[in-house]
Amino acid sequence: MSEERSRELESFDEPASNLPLLDKLDRVIASLPPGDPVRRDLLDLRPHVSDQSQMIGEARQMIEKLEEVIKKVTSPANRIGTFLGATSKDTAHIVVGGADYYCNVDPRIPLAKLKKGTRVLVNEAFVIVGDLGFETAGPVTKITEVIGKDRLRVGSEHGTQSLVLQRSADLASSTLKSGDEVRVDSNYRMALEMLSSTKSHEHYLDVVPELPWEKVGGQEEALQAIKDAIELPLLHVDLFKKFQHATPKGFLLYGPPGCGKTLIGKATAYNLTKQLGEKTGAQMKEYFMHVKGPEILNMWVGESERMVREIFATAREKRRDGFMPFLFIDEAESILGTRRASRHSNILSTLVPMFCSEMDGIDSLNDVVIILASNRADLIDPAILRPGRIDRKIKVNRPNREGAREVYRIYLTPDLPYDG
Ligand SMILES: Nc1ncnc2c1ncn2[C@@H]1O[C@H](COP(=O)(O)OP(=O)(O)O)[C@@H](O)[C@H]1O
Ligand SMILES: [Mg+2]
Repeated sequence: MSEERSRELESFDEPASNLPLLDKLDRVIASLPPGDPVRRDLLDLRPHVSDQSQMIGEARQMIEKLEEVIKKVTSPANRIGTFLGATSKDTAHIVVGGADYYCNVDPRIPLAKLKKGTRVLVNEAFVIVGDLGFETAGPVTKITEVIGKDRLRVGSEHGTQSLVLQRSADLASSTLKSGDEVRVDSNYRMALEMLSSTKSHEHYLDVVPELPWEKVGGQEEALQAIKDAIELPLLHVDLFKKFQHATPKGFLLYGPPGCGKTLIGKATAYNLTKQLGEKTGAQMKEYFMHVKGPEILNMWVGESERMVREIFATAREKRRDGFMPFLFIDEAESILGTRRASRHSNILSTLVPMFCSEMDGIDSLNDVVIILASNRADLIDPAILRPGRIDRKIKVNRPNREGAREVYRIYLTPDLPYDG
């Protein structure tokens, strides 16, 4: 080997060592003069080297792939948790499989952007390493109470335990009310989505036909008592408030069946709403909820209480929507009776206090008017009839002779084809 060439080779040495074998060989071949026998030998060798290095390349790729597979199949699964909130700028409160963790967050996950209630990936060290967004499926339950701005009480269906949930980020500003259905995260901590409410309470809605007072015959006393009891307080709320005059929440109609209690209830709704509309100058419509006591009583365990809450919640909601709600409770003694008087004393011992507290929560007649009807007023729990609640009892008697004549006059109009 001439001195010149060995120098040349040396100069190749450093970088050449990093080159693939075939390139290295080509460089050496290129550096030899064309007639050199070594060059020919090397050229003969070249295809073998080429094959070999290709094989090695393929084998390396195969190994890399296998390594990747091994890594994937042997690395532990990430758990999925529900994000409850940030506890500092880089730690979070999560719940995984029912257990709470206070955990670190991969700095690549923008913690400030994680939404309350969203699902997060959690690695073995319980570090949040991914954001999976909201769950799209899961258990559904009914709201029984809206607590403050960010909590909801749910459940208690068929005697199961009730729960308090937080609102997820997506529900933070939604209008929710008891009776609405919400989807809950699998850890039962967050309400994630509101489902269209089932409107079960709508079946209490009853139509009120045009019913001026004149269409009720022979009940002057009762009608006068109603006007005295609620017309004034309803139409002059401000005055009553100013003089701190306690106004009733409604009245009780009692008397034998068929003498017009339901009719008078509806007439009250019709006339008062009309007067209220005229006074305020705004178009107003009544919302007459006809609740039959025994129906409430014969519900699933826990359902009666929920229904009572829902009825009041509906009344309040309808008021907000601009209706004048009337809550007419027929056969009131069945759900508001003294506990002694009923076989259902268990349920009455919760329904009566609940009803009282709902009533006490009503600010004025202007929010909702409650009308109870009963053939057995003597059975109604005195707590219901205390001042400030339903403290007006109005008797609806069988009409006397003159009253009966009046009733006939209402129905037997001259256009009827009869001979008399
Ligand atoms: N005083 C009345 N004036 C006009 N119609 C009446 C009167 N009392 C009863 N009626 C008629 O009888 C029907 C039954 O009365 P209802 O109001 O249901 O009685 P209650 O609720 O006391 O059992 C009413 O729909 C109405 O048509
Ligand atoms: Mg009736």
